[in-house]
Amino acid sequence: MILHDMILHDTQRLTLCGTDATSDLDDFAADVRDGLTSTSKRLSCRFIYDEPGSVLFEKICALPEYYLTRAEAQILEDRSHELGRMFDECPTIVELGSGSSVKTRIILRALSDEFDEVHYVPIDISTEMLTNAANDLLDMFPKLNVTGFAGEYNDGLRFVHDEIDGPTCMLWLGSSVGNLTRDVAADFLTLLRENMDDEDRVLAGIDLKKDAAILRNAYNDNAGITRRFNQNLLLRINRELGGDFDVDAFDYKVIYNSEIGRVEMYQVSRVSQEVHIRDLDLTVSFEQGESIHTENSHKYSLDDIDALAARSGMEKAAQWFDDERRFSLNLFKPS
Ligand code: AVJ
Repeated sequence: MILHDMILHDTQRLTLCGTDATSDLDDFAADVRDGLTSTSKRLSCRFIYDEPGSVLFEKICALPEYYLTRAEAQILEDRSHELGRMFDECPTIVELGSGSSVKTRIILRALSDEFDEVHYVPIDISTEMLTNAANDLLDMFPKLNVTGFAGEYNDGLRFVHDEIDGPTCMLWLGSSVGNLTRDVAADFLTLLRENMDDEDRVLAGIDLKKDAAILRNAYNDNAGITRRFNQNLLLRINRELGGDFDVDAFDYKVIYNSEIGRVEMYQVSRVSQEVHIRDLDLTVSFEQGESIHTENSHKYSLDDIDALAARSGMEKAAQWFDDERRFSLNLFKPS
Protein backbone atom coordinates (compact mmCIF):
# COMPACT_ATOMS: atom_id res chain seq x y z
CA MET A 1 0.00 0.00 0.00
CA ILE A 2 1.37 3.42 -0.90
CA LEU A 3 1.18 6.06 1.76
CA HIS A 4 2.33 9.08 -0.18
CA ASP A 5 0.89 11.33 2.43
CA MET A 6 2.22 9.32 5.32
CA ILE A 7 4.88 11.35 6.99
CA LEU A 8 6.98 9.15 9.20
CA HIS A 9 9.18 11.87 10.50
CA ASP A 10 9.42 15.60 10.00
CA THR A 11 11.97 18.00 11.37
CA GLN A 12 12.91 21.24 9.72
CA ARG A 13 15.32 19.69 7.27
CA LEU A 14 14.23 16.05 7.16
CA THR A 15 10.95 14.62 5.88
CA LEU A 16 10.46 10.86 5.72
CA CYS A 17 7.67 9.40 3.63
CA GLY A 18 6.95 5.91 2.51
CA THR A 19 5.15 2.65 2.44
CA ASP A 20 4.67 0.10 5.18
CA ALA A 21 7.83 -1.94 5.44
CA THR A 22 7.29 -5.54 4.39
CA SER A 23 9.45 -8.31 5.73
CA ASP A 24 11.39 -10.07 3.03
CA LEU A 25 11.63 -13.38 4.89
CA ASP A 26 8.82 -14.77 2.71
CA ASP A 27 10.57 -13.60 -0.46
CA PHE A 28 13.80 -15.19 0.73
CA ALA A 29 12.10 -18.50 1.55
CA ALA A 30 10.38 -18.58 -1.85
CA ASP A 31 13.62 -17.79 -3.68
CA VAL A 32 15.53 -20.49 -1.80
CA ARG A 33 12.86 -23.12 -2.50
CA ASP A 34 12.64 -22.18 -6.19
CA GLY A 35 16.36 -21.93 -6.70
CA LEU A 36 17.48 -25.07 -4.90
CA THR A 37 14.79 -27.33 -6.40
CA SER A 38 15.46 -26.29 -9.99
CA THR A 39 17.66 -28.42 -12.29
CA SER A 40 20.44 -25.81 -12.37
CA LYS A 41 20.60 -24.68 -8.78
CA ARG A 42 20.66 -20.94 -8.17
CA LEU A 43 20.03 -18.30 -5.50
CA SER A 44 19.37 -14.56 -5.90
CA CYS A 45 22.30 -12.38 -4.92
CA ARG A 46 20.06 -9.66 -3.54
CA PHE A 47 19.65 -11.76 -0.40
CA ILE A 48 23.38 -11.58 0.36
CA TYR A 49 22.88 -8.13 1.83
CA ASP A 50 21.66 -8.76 5.36
CA GLU A 51 23.63 -7.19 8.21
CA PRO A 52 26.74 -9.44 7.99
CA GLY A 53 26.59 -9.41 4.18
CA SER A 54 26.51 -5.62 4.09
CA VAL A 55 29.51 -5.44 6.40
CA LEU A 56 31.42 -7.76 4.06
CA PHE A 57 30.41 -5.68 1.05
CA GLU A 58 31.87 -2.57 2.69
CA LYS A 59 35.13 -4.51 3.05
CA ILE A 60 35.00 -5.56 -0.60
CA CYS A 61 34.85 -1.91 -1.62
CA ALA A 62 38.23 -1.32 0.04
CA LEU A 63 39.98 -4.40 -1.43
CA PRO A 64 43.01 -3.79 -3.66
CA GLU A 65 41.52 -6.08 -6.36
CA TYR A 66 38.11 -4.39 -6.32
CA TYR A 67 38.87 -1.30 -8.37
CA LEU A 68 35.23 -0.33 -9.04
CA THR A 69 34.52 1.78 -5.96
CA ARG A 70 37.76 3.76 -6.15
CA ALA A 71 37.45 4.33 -9.89
CA GLU A 72 33.90 5.64 -9.53
CA ALA A 73 34.86 7.88 -6.61
CA GLN A 74 37.70 9.31 -8.67
CA ILE A 75 35.38 10.18 -11.55
CA LEU A 76 32.94 11.79 -9.14
CA GLU A 77 35.73 13.85 -7.56
CA ASP A 78 36.69 15.06 -11.03
CA ARG A 79 33.23 15.64 -12.47
CA SER A 80 30.63 16.31 -9.78
CA HIS A 81 30.74 20.06 -10.32
CA GLU A 82 29.63 19.48 -13.92
CA LEU A 83 26.37 18.06 -12.61
CA GLY A 84 25.58 21.52 -11.31
CA ARG A 85 25.14 22.75 -14.86
CA MET A 86 21.76 21.09 -15.24
CA PHE A 87 20.32 23.16 -12.40
CA ASP A 88 19.47 26.87 -12.12
CA GLU A 89 18.89 26.68 -8.40
CA CYS A 90 18.45 24.14 -5.61
CA PRO A 91 19.62 20.91 -7.26
CA THR A 92 17.54 17.84 -6.42
CA ILE A 93 19.51 14.61 -6.19
CA VAL A 94 17.49 11.40 -6.01
CA GLU A 95 19.30 8.25 -4.95
CA LEU A 96 18.22 4.64 -5.39
CA GLY A 97 19.41 2.91 -2.25
CA SER A 98 20.42 5.45 0.41
CA GLY A 99 24.13 5.48 -0.06
CA SER A 100 25.41 6.15 3.42
CA SER A 101 28.34 6.58 1.34
CA VAL A 102 31.41 8.44 0.39
CA LYS A 103 30.10 8.81 -3.17
CA THR A 104 26.94 10.68 -2.29
CA ARG A 105 29.03 13.00 -0.15
CA ILE A 106 31.32 13.85 -3.03
CA ILE A 107 28.34 14.97 -5.11
CA LEU A 108 26.59 16.86 -2.30
CA ARG A 109 29.82 18.63 -1.40
CA ALA A 110 30.39 19.80 -4.97
CA LEU A 111 26.81 21.07 -5.23
CA SER A 112 26.89 22.73 -1.81
CA ASP A 113 29.90 24.73 -2.93
CA GLU A 114 27.92 26.07 -5.84
CA PHE A 115 24.32 26.48 -4.62
CA ASP A 116 22.57 28.04 -1.62
CA GLU A 117 20.33 25.06 -1.15
CA VAL A 118 20.53 21.36 -2.08
CA HIS A 119 17.73 18.80 -1.93
CA TYR A 120 18.56 15.10 -1.41
CA VAL A 121 15.90 12.44 -1.95
CA PRO A 122 17.08 8.93 -1.00
CA ILE A 123 14.84 5.93 -1.71
CA ASP A 124 15.52 2.85 0.39
CA ILE A 125 13.65 -0.20 1.62
CA SER A 126 14.95 0.31 5.15
CA THR A 127 13.65 3.23 7.24
CA GLU A 128 16.57 2.79 9.60
CA MET A 129 19.18 3.08 6.86
CA LEU A 130 17.38 6.13 5.50
CA THR A 131 17.28 7.89 8.84
CA ASN A 132 20.89 7.16 9.69
CA ALA A 133 22.19 8.19 6.29
CA ALA A 134 20.05 11.34 6.29
CA ASN A 135 21.14 12.44 9.75
CA ASP A 136 24.82 12.00 8.91
CA LEU A 137 24.44 14.05 5.75
CA LEU A 138 22.39 16.77 7.48
CA ASP A 139 25.17 17.19 10.05
CA MET A 140 27.73 17.43 7.31
CA PHE A 141 25.92 19.80 4.94
CA PRO A 142 24.14 22.82 6.48
CA LYS A 143 22.49 23.76 3.16
CA LEU A 144 20.93 20.34 2.72
CA ASN A 145 17.25 19.36 2.93
CA VAL A 146 16.36 15.67 2.84
CA THR A 147 13.12 14.02 1.76
CA GLY A 148 13.52 10.27 2.25
CA PHE A 149 11.19 7.66 0.84
CA ALA A 150 11.04 4.26 2.55
CA GLY A 151 9.81 1.55 0.22
CA GLU A 152 10.25 -0.24 -3.08
CA TYR A 153 11.87 1.55 -6.02
CA ASN A 154 8.63 1.49 -8.04
CA ASP A 155 6.72 3.36 -5.36
CA GLY A 156 9.67 5.63 -4.67
CA LEU A 157 10.00 6.63 -8.32
CA ARG A 158 6.31 7.41 -8.55
CA PHE A 159 6.57 9.44 -5.35
CA VAL A 160 9.44 11.47 -6.82
CA HIS A 161 7.57 12.00 -10.06
CA ASP A 162 4.37 13.14 -8.32
CA GLU A 163 5.68 15.02 -5.30
CA ILE A 164 9.20 16.32 -5.88
CA ASP A 165 9.91 19.46 -7.89
CA GLY A 166 12.35 18.97 -10.76
CA PRO A 167 14.64 19.01 -12.47
CA THR A 168 16.08 16.01 -10.69
CA CYS A 169 19.23 13.99 -11.16
CA MET A 170 18.80 10.36 -10.21
CA LEU A 171 21.86 8.50 -8.95
CA TRP A 172 22.25 4.85 -9.90
CA LEU A 173 25.80 4.30 -8.77
CA GLY A 174 28.17 1.48 -7.91
CA SER A 175 27.50 -0.52 -11.08
CA SER A 176 24.34 -1.82 -9.45
CA VAL A 177 23.24 -2.51 -13.01
CA GLY A 178 25.81 -5.33 -12.98
CA ASN A 179 23.62 -7.76 -11.08
CA LEU A 180 20.81 -7.42 -13.63
CA THR A 181 20.59 -9.34 -16.89
CA ARG A 182 20.68 -7.05 -19.92
CA ASP A 183 16.91 -7.37 -20.38
CA VAL A 184 16.13 -6.60 -16.77
CA ALA A 185 18.58 -3.68 -16.85
CA ALA A 186 16.77 -2.20 -19.86
CA ASP A 187 13.39 -2.73 -18.15
CA PHE A 188 14.67 -0.97 -15.06
CA LEU A 189 16.08 1.99 -16.96
CA THR A 190 12.80 2.16 -18.88
CA LEU A 191 10.99 2.42 -15.56
CA LEU A 192 13.25 5.31 -14.62
CA ARG A 193 12.54 6.90 -18.00
CA GLU A 194 8.79 6.62 -17.46
CA ASN A 195 9.14 8.64 -14.29
CA MET A 196 11.33 11.36 -15.82
CA ASP A 197 10.58 14.71 -17.42
CA ASP A 198 12.69 16.10 -20.27
CA GLU A 199 15.04 18.07 -18.03
CA ASP A 200 15.66 15.16 -15.62
CA ARG A 201 18.82 13.07 -15.76
CA VAL A 202 20.08 9.69 -14.57
CA LEU A 203 23.68 9.34 -13.43
CA ALA A 204 24.67 5.69 -13.83
CA GLY A 205 27.99 4.14 -12.78
CA ILE A 206 28.72 1.20 -15.08
CA ASP A 207 31.74 -1.12 -14.98
CA LEU A 208 33.47 -1.74 -18.31
CA LYS A 209 34.53 -4.91 -20.11
CA LYS A 210 38.25 -5.55 -19.70
CA ASP A 211 40.88 -8.24 -19.37
CA ALA A 212 39.26 -11.37 -17.92
CA ALA A 213 41.98 -11.94 -15.31
CA ILE A 214 41.45 -8.48 -13.82
CA LEU A 215 37.73 -9.14 -13.63
CA ARG A 216 38.13 -12.58 -12.05
CA ASN A 217 40.53 -11.19 -9.42
CA ALA A 218 38.12 -8.39 -8.56
CA TYR A 219 35.59 -11.07 -7.56
CA ASN A 220 38.03 -13.56 -6.06
CA ASP A 221 40.36 -11.57 -3.84
CA ASN A 222 43.40 -12.93 -2.05
CA ALA A 223 42.04 -12.22 1.41
CA GLY A 224 38.96 -14.33 0.66
CA ILE A 225 36.48 -11.59 1.55
CA THR A 226 34.39 -11.98 -1.60
CA ARG A 227 34.25 -15.72 -1.00
CA ARG A 228 32.83 -15.08 2.46
CA PHE A 229 30.43 -12.50 1.05
CA ASN A 230 29.15 -15.11 -1.38
CA GLN A 231 28.99 -17.81 1.32
CA ASN A 232 26.81 -15.51 3.36
CA LEU A 233 23.89 -16.60 1.21
CA LEU A 234 24.25 -20.16 2.54
CA LEU A 235 24.86 -18.96 6.09
CA ARG A 236 21.76 -16.80 5.89
CA ILE A 237 19.74 -19.88 4.93
CA ASN A 238 21.13 -21.53 8.08
CA ARG A 239 20.30 -18.52 10.27
CA GLU A 240 16.88 -17.61 8.97
CA LEU A 241 15.44 -20.82 7.56
CA GLY A 242 17.01 -23.44 9.81
CA GLY A 243 19.40 -24.80 7.17
CA ASP A 244 22.41 -26.99 7.92
CA PHE A 245 24.81 -25.94 5.15
CA ASP A 246 28.43 -26.77 5.96
CA VAL A 247 30.03 -23.92 4.02
CA ASP A 248 33.42 -25.64 4.13
CA ALA A 249 31.95 -28.43 2.02
CA PHE A 250 31.64 -25.91 -0.84
CA ASP A 251 34.27 -24.26 -3.01
CA TYR A 252 33.88 -20.73 -4.36
CA LYS A 253 34.20 -20.52 -8.16
CA VAL A 254 34.48 -17.39 -10.29
CA ILE A 255 34.50 -17.35 -14.09
CA TYR A 256 34.28 -14.65 -16.73
CA ASN A 257 31.66 -15.64 -19.30
CA SER A 258 32.91 -13.71 -22.31
CA GLU A 259 29.93 -14.63 -24.48
CA ILE A 260 27.47 -12.91 -22.16
CA GLY A 261 30.05 -10.45 -20.86
CA ARG A 262 29.67 -11.15 -17.18
CA VAL A 263 31.48 -12.47 -14.15
CA GLU A 264 29.64 -15.50 -12.74
CA MET A 265 29.96 -16.70 -9.16
CA TYR A 266 29.18 -20.16 -7.84
CA GLN A 267 29.28 -22.31 -4.72
CA VAL A 268 30.45 -25.77 -5.79
CA SER A 269 29.81 -28.85 -3.68
CA ARG A 270 33.10 -30.57 -2.86
CA VAL A 271 31.38 -33.85 -2.05
CA SER A 272 28.14 -35.68 -2.65
CA GLN A 273 25.94 -34.46 0.20
CA GLU A 274 22.46 -33.62 1.47
CA VAL A 275 21.47 -30.31 2.99
CA HIS A 276 18.32 -29.90 5.08
CA ILE A 277 16.35 -26.71 5.39
CA ARG A 278 14.02 -27.17 8.33
CA ASP A 279 11.62 -24.28 7.85
CA LEU A 280 11.07 -25.23 4.21
CA ASP A 281 10.75 -28.91 5.07
CA LEU A 282 13.21 -29.43 2.24
CA THR A 283 16.16 -31.76 1.63
CA VAL A 284 18.51 -30.77 -1.17
CA SER A 285 20.91 -33.33 -2.67
CA PHE A 286 24.19 -32.31 -4.24
CA GLU A 287 26.43 -34.40 -6.41
CA GLN A 288 30.14 -33.89 -6.09
CA GLY A 289 31.02 -30.88 -8.27
CA GLU A 290 27.43 -29.67 -8.55
CA SER A 291 27.15 -25.91 -8.25
CA ILE A 292 24.78 -23.23 -7.04
CA HIS A 293 24.88 -20.12 -9.24
CA THR A 294 24.87 -17.30 -6.70
CA GLU A 295 25.69 -14.05 -8.51
CA ASN A 296 26.34 -12.36 -11.87
CA SER A 297 28.17 -9.11 -12.49
CA HIS A 298 27.56 -7.85 -16.03
CA LYS A 299 30.21 -5.75 -17.77
CA TYR A 300 29.59 -3.23 -20.55
CA SER A 301 31.42 -2.03 -23.65
CA LEU A 302 30.71 1.53 -24.81
CA ASP A 303 28.40 0.06 -27.47
CA ASP A 304 26.62 -1.99 -24.82
CA ILE A 305 26.01 1.22 -22.86
CA ASP A 306 24.58 2.99 -25.92
CA ALA A 307 22.37 -0.02 -26.63
CA LEU A 308 21.13 -0.07 -23.04
CA ALA A 309 20.26 3.62 -23.19
CA ALA A 310 18.56 3.30 -26.58
CA ARG A 311 16.43 0.37 -25.45
CA SER A 312 15.27 2.49 -22.53
CA GLY A 313 14.34 5.62 -24.48
CA MET A 314 17.43 7.49 -23.34
CA GLU A 315 20.72 8.79 -24.69
CA LYS A 316 24.02 9.99 -23.29
CA ALA A 317 24.21 13.58 -22.18
CA ALA A 318 27.75 13.00 -20.94
CA GLN A 319 30.13 10.12 -20.29
CA TRP A 320 33.23 10.15 -18.10
CA PHE A 321 35.98 7.66 -17.23
CA ASP A 322 38.66 7.18 -14.59
CA ASP A 323 42.30 7.62 -15.63
CA GLU A 324 42.70 3.93 -16.42
CA ARG A 325 39.34 3.71 -18.24
CA ARG A 326 38.20 0.84 -16.09
CA PHE A 327 34.86 2.36 -15.13
CA SER A 328 32.31 4.72 -16.64
CA LEU A 329 29.98 7.33 -15.27
CA ASN A 330 27.09 8.04 -17.62
CA LEU A 331 24.67 10.93 -17.58
CA PHE A 332 21.54 9.80 -19.44
CA LYS A 333 18.74 12.03 -20.68
CA PRO A 334 15.40 11.18 -22.29
CA SER A 335 15.77 10.95 -26.06
C1 AVJ B 1 27.08 -4.26 -5.97
C2 AVJ B 1 26.55 -5.43 -7.96
C3 AVJ B 1 28.10 -3.64 -8.01
O1 AVJ B 1 28.90 -6.75 -9.06
O2 AVJ B 1 30.62 -5.58 -8.46
C4 AVJ B 1 31.01 -7.31 -5.51
C5 AVJ B 1 28.52 -6.85 -6.08
N1 AVJ B 1 29.71 -9.01 -5.66
N2 AVJ B 1 31.73 -8.43 -5.27
C6 AVJ B 1 29.50 -6.05 -8.24
C7 AVJ B 1 29.72 -7.70 -5.78
C8 AVJ B 1 30.94 -9.46 -5.36
C9 AVJ B 1 28.81 -5.66 -6.94
N3 AVJ B 1 27.63 -4.77 -7.21
